[in-house]
Formats: sequence, structure tokens, C-alpha cells
Amino acid sequence: MTSQRILIIGATSAVAQGIAQRFAQEGARIFCLARNPEKTEAVATSLGSAFAGSFCYDFTQTDLASEAITKATAALGSIDIALIAHGELLDQIESEHDYAVAYQTFAINQLSVIALLIPLAEQMEQQGCGKIGVITSVAGERGRPRNYTYGAAKGSLNIYLQGLRSTLWGSGVEIYTFKMGPVDTPMTIDHEKNFSFSTVEQVSKIIVKGFESKRYERYVPGYWRFVMFFVRNMPEWLFQQVGFLSGR
Ligand SMILES: NC(=O)c1ccc[n+]([C@@H]2O[C@H](COP(=O)([O-])OP(=O)(O)OC[C@H]3O[C@@H](n4cnc5c(N)ncnc54)[C@H](OP(=O)(O)O)[C@@H]3O)[C@@H](O)[C@H]2O)c1
Repeated sequence: MTSQRILIIGATSAVAQGIAQRFAQEGARIFCLARNPEKTEAVATSLGSAFAGSFCYDFTQTDLASEAITKATAALGSIDIALIAHGELLDQIESEHDYAVAYQTFAINQLSVIALLIPLAEQMEQQGCGKIGVITSVAGERGRPRNYTYGAAKGSLNIYLQGLRSTLWGSGVEIYTFKMGPVDTPMTIDHEKNFSFSTVEQVSKIIVKGFESKRYERYVPGYWRFVMFFVRNMPEWLFQQVGFLSGR
């Protein structure tokens, strides 16, 4: 069996590293896109012989996205699976008062992803096959005072991915949306941890297996499907009574 050719975008993220390690153990070859060259060097070392190269840039420099996908394709030959895992949770209250922070939240979590999806989808359509997975968030399911700017960026990605999935349906290119719940990573370092948090190991396993499942939209872990059913459908008057949902 030939080894899988994997592109990890946001390769220095804690969750992405967990996923890359699992693919490496399965014998994959992995190309990394990331922002920080030193951190990427450390990821390369940890991947050992699975590492197939890297390209570093700030993903909000969206004019570099095409070049990044071209470099990854050249290094791997073609791309079997691409995972988009980068993201940033900026200060919510600042984003409500400073347009620059709101814009940056969208630039990182939404626009930079679309800039990468366009050349990636084109590349995979040319190949006639391939899988693209994007990590979004349960925060994208209902606007909450705690994180609605980030949630709006992630939620709009869910819609974009639905459209892309339908557009490419039958072409051999599959689009996966991973709506993830809270995970104990550097992104949530300042958050008080409770029962709702998963570990990198748990979510990495679910996402790697998810690429084999043909369930194109899934919650990670799966129990968020039931939780979010209630959160999404709760009438506004009730939502406002539930402090842990409607509070800061
Ligand atoms: N942790 C959670 O609770 C949680 C819950 C739901 C969804 N998510 C989503 O899951 C994904 C993985 O998150 P994580 O928890 O693994 O986060 P993390 O460890 O904090 O990693 C975030 C990653 O995003 C990269 N990044 C941020 N801004 C960037 C930019 N402008 N250009 C390029 N790269 C940039 C960071 O690069 P540097 O290393 O250079 O900083 C880092 O690799 C993200 O999409 C996140 O939004 C996380």
C-alpha cells in the first residue's frame, strides 16, 4: 500500500500536532504549512522520516496561499488529505469595540481559510480525488457573549464548507467539517477547565478516523451533537435565563 500524502495547515497547533503524529504512525508523508519557522522545525523533528517539507507564512497574507498549496503539491506529488487546523481566539470584548480586532478575528479564522480552500479545491479537482478537513467549533453554532466574534467566523465557515461539499459532490473530492468542542491546548490556556474539555489525544483520534467515515459534518467528540441540538434550539427567553450560556 502506498503511504498517504498529507498536508497539515497550521501544523504547530496542538491539535494538528496530535493528528500529524497519528498519520505519521500510519506511515504517511506529511507537508506542513505554519507561521513560525522555529516551531515548525520542532514539529519536523518530532515527525522524523514522515516529514516531507514545510512552508511558513502568516496565513493572513492571503496572496501567498496559492504558492503555499503549489509548494505542498510539488513536495508530495499530490495531496490525499489536507487538514486546516489553524485558528486564534482573540479578546472578545476588544473585538466588540475595536473593528481592527473584529477584522483580525475574521482574517485569521475565516478569510485565511477560504484563501487556502480555493487553490486546494482546485488542486484536488485536477487530481480527481482528495479529502479536505477543516476544524471549526461548537462556538459557531450559536452566538454567545463569551465568544461571538470568533463564533461568527467559525460558523460562517460551516456554511462555506457545506456549499463547497455540494459543489464538489461526485467529483471525488470530499469536504469534512469537524465542529470541535473545547480542548485543553494553548488556545484555552487561560480558560477554567471543567468536564466539557477534551484532550488532544481524544480529538486527534476522532479526526483521523473521521476522514474514513464519510460522515462529512461531525462534532468532536460526538456527544456535542446532542448538547448543541439543545443549545441551538433553545428559545431566546430560556437561553437568557441560563447563565453559563448567556453570560460572559
Ligand atoms: N482548543 C479549543 O478549545 C478549540 C475548540 C474548538 C475549535 N478549536 C479550533 O481548533 C483548531 C486548533 O486549535 P488548537 O487548540 O490546537 O490551537 P493552538 O494550539 O493554540 O494553535 C493555534 C494555531 O493557529 C496558528 N495561527 C494562528 N494565527 C495564525 C496566522 N495568522 N497564520 C498562521 N497560523 C496561525 C498558530 O500558529 P503559531 O504556532 O505560529 O502561533 C497555531 O499553530 C483551531 O482552528 C481552533 O480555532 C479549538
